[in-house]
Amino acid sequence: MRNGEIVPESAMDGLPGVKANALCADIESCDTFDRFYQSRLIVMRDSVSPNNLSSSVFDQMAEAILVINFDGIILGANRSAAELFGYPVEALCGSSSRRLRGSSYTDSQRKRIHERIKAGKTWRGRMEFVKSDGQTGFHETEVSPFRNEQNEIVGLISSSRDVSLDIALEAQSDLILEAVRSSNFGVTIADATLPDLPLQYVNSAFEDITGYAFAEIKGRNCRFLKGPDTDQEAVSDIRRAIHREEPLTTMLLNYRKDGTRFWNRLQLSPIHDAKKRLRAYMSVQIDITRDVSERTIERERQKMEHLGKLASGISHELNNALQPILLMGGATGRPLTEKYKRRAGLRRQRYRARDLCKGDR
Ligand SMILES: Cc1cc2nc3c(=O)[nH]c(=O)nc-3n(C[C@H](O)[C@H](O)[C@H](O)COP(=O)(O)O)c2cc1C
Repeated sequence: MRNGEIVPESAMDGLPGVKANALCADIESCDTFDRFYQSRLIVMRDSVSPNNLSSSVFDQMAEAILVINFDGIILGANRSAAELFGYPVEALCGSSSRRLRGSSYTDSQRKRIHERIKAGKTWRGRMEFVKSDGQTGFHETEVSPFRNEQNEIVGLISSSRDVSLDIALEAQSDLILEAVRSSNFGVTIADATLPDLPLQYVNSAFEDITGYAFAEIKGRNCRFLKGPDTDQEAVSDIRRAIHREEPLTTMLLNYRKDGTRFWNRLQLSPIHDAKKRLRAYMSVQIDITRDVSERTIERERQKMEHLGKLASGISHELNNALQPILLMGGATGRPLTEKYKRRAGLRRQRYRARDLCKGDR
């Protein structure tokens, strides 16, 4: 069958808006059709008519196919269309296509598409659709002219693919990207499919923390942040985690471009694809220099406080232990023999010890 040739008349009998016609997409005028799609349309045109699409090869097509006249009446639908819109094929055929269109499909959009189709061109875009249960979604649609046997354009053929999930994912990844871009934490991504994990992305917080612009470190390994006082044990941990493709959180001293040091709380995570192959490493850098010094001061303060408590505890205990001895010496009232003089010396020492323990020198 040649391009544009007509399928048997009987196939279209009784369909509104089309007297005796065939499913013959005007492929020459479908300027945006790719070869693959064209070949499908040729099969379509040569093998089926709109009202028996369900029993055709088109039931195996993933795309939802609808044939619609300019009054908006559905002349034919395949099984994917039935699945997409949630109606049986029989319920779709002969009904109005308007109920399938979401509220964002305006009359002016419809007019624009019809004008294009009437001019023998194709239209491609996204449309909101409504399912039989009232749920809405988006499909990506390619619409091309549908001609009758006199080669007049009497309607359109739409081929749609549900992209609701893609749109939701796009929105989600836009959100994630925005969160990464505007984060106060440094974020980097290194390509794990290339040798030595070259940097592929850094956000502006990373540039702010390190003083390096992305342009000057793109493609380099992140080890340029290490310096003479970087803890080698932490670096070994990183090396090991990378070797094992495991996530890691560590804290290490790093160096900015201007040579100043900062404490980096580094989180490193491998990113695997669906086939569990390592694709990239993602890292989060948090400059905790202030926290570290404040924490160090706080730790020292707590240590001192603890020591103080300990010392006063000891002093108290010591004092209690010394009291009877001190009292004993003072209560006897005996003349001071050499023995007592020595004891008095000892007592002075004890007083001194007690005062020392009180911190009262
Ligand atoms: C995505 C990514 C981010 C990294 N970020 C840092 C970092 O901020 N600071 C650092 O000292 N090392 C960082 N590293 C580790 C170094 O790049 C390197 O792997 C580490 O210094 C051990 O390797 P080497 O012994 O060959 O230097 C990062 C590694 C990757 C893959």
